[in-house]
Amino acid sequence: MKNRSLVSINDYSPAEILEILNLAAEFEKNPGQALLTGYVVATLFFEPSTRTRLSFESAINRLGGRVIGFSDSSSSSVSKGESLKDTILTVSNYSDLIVMRHPLEGSAQYASEVSPVPIINAGDGAHQHPTQTLLDLYSIRKTQGRLDNLKICMVGDLKYGRTVHSLLIAMSAFQPLFTFIAPEELKMPDEYKHLLDKKGIPYQEHRDIADNLNDADIIYMTRVQRERFSDPLEYEKVKNVYILRDSMLTNTKSNMRILHPLPRVNEINPDVDSNPKAYYFEQALNGVYTRMAIISKILGVK
Ligand code: CP
Repeated sequence: MKNRSLVSINDYSPAEILEILNLAAEFEKNPGQALLTGYVVATLFFEPSTRTRLSFESAINRLGGRVIGFSDSSSSSVSKGESLKDTILTVSNYSDLIVMRHPLEGSAQYASEVSPVPIINAGDGAHQHPTQTLLDLYSIRKTQGRLDNLKICMVGDLKYGRTVHSLLIAMSAFQPLFTFIAPEELKMPDEYKHLLDKKGIPYQEHRDIADNLNDADIIYMTRVQRERFSDPLEYEKVKNVYILRDSMLTNTKSNMRILHPLPRVNEINPDVDSNPKAYYFEQALNGVYTRMAIISKILGVK
C-alpha cells in the first residue's frame, strides 16, 4: 500500500482490506500516536463534505501531521479556470499526500495518473468512495464480529449512491447475501449486478421496504442524491420514497445494525436515533480510526 493511490476499493485485495481494519482497531485502542510528525497532507474538496473531510483532518491531526487545502474550490484558482492537472501538480509540491473529492467520475483516477504523490479518492461523482467503504467494513465487522456470510440490505438511492457501489464490490469477497430496496428510477445499476452474477453472489430486488428488513444483519440506508439529478422534478418524485421509522424495527434481528454514510435528509426518522440498533454516528467516528490506518499505510509510517 505504501506510496500507492487509493482510487477504487478494487485497489486493495481482501488481505489488504483486513490489514487496514486491523490497524484501525489498533488506532481505536491507542489513537495518540505521533507517526506523521513532519508530514503535510492536502485535502482538496471540490464538493461539500462534513464527515469525510473533517475525519481525515482529525485523523491527520491525531497522528501529529499538518493539513493544508480547501473545502470550497471557489476560494482556489480553480475559480479562475485552472485545470485539475495544474492544481494537482501544484499542490503535490506542498504536500506528501492528497485527499480529493470531486464531482466528476474518473477524476480521482486522472489525478492519480498525473500526481507525483499518492491520491486518496474521497468520492468521485456517483462512482466510488473507497475510504467510506473501509470504515463501513470496519463498522460491520465491529458490530457483527465477522464480515463473512452476512445479509446486507441496501435501501434508497442505489443508482447514484457511490458508497453502496464501493461497499458491494468490497463485500463480494466475503460471501454476502444482498437485498436491494429501491424505486425503479434508482435501482442498482446493471454493471454491479453483473459483477455479482459473475461471482455467484445472490441478491434480491424489491420496491417495498416493509417485510424486507427482518432477516438483515445490516440495513444500509442511503440518501437520495439530489445533486446527481439533472431534472429537479425527477428528484421531487423520489426524494421521500423510504423513511425508516422505529416502529419498522420491531421484528428485526437483535444484533442488526443500521448504517448510513450520512448526511441523512428524511430517510431515517429521528425516532430511530435512540434505538440501540442505530449505529450511524458511531460509524462516522470509526471513520477517524480507519482513515488514520489508510494514511499510515500509504505514507509507510506503520
Ligand atoms: N459520508 C460522507 O461522505 O459524508 P460527507 O459528505 O459529509 O463527507
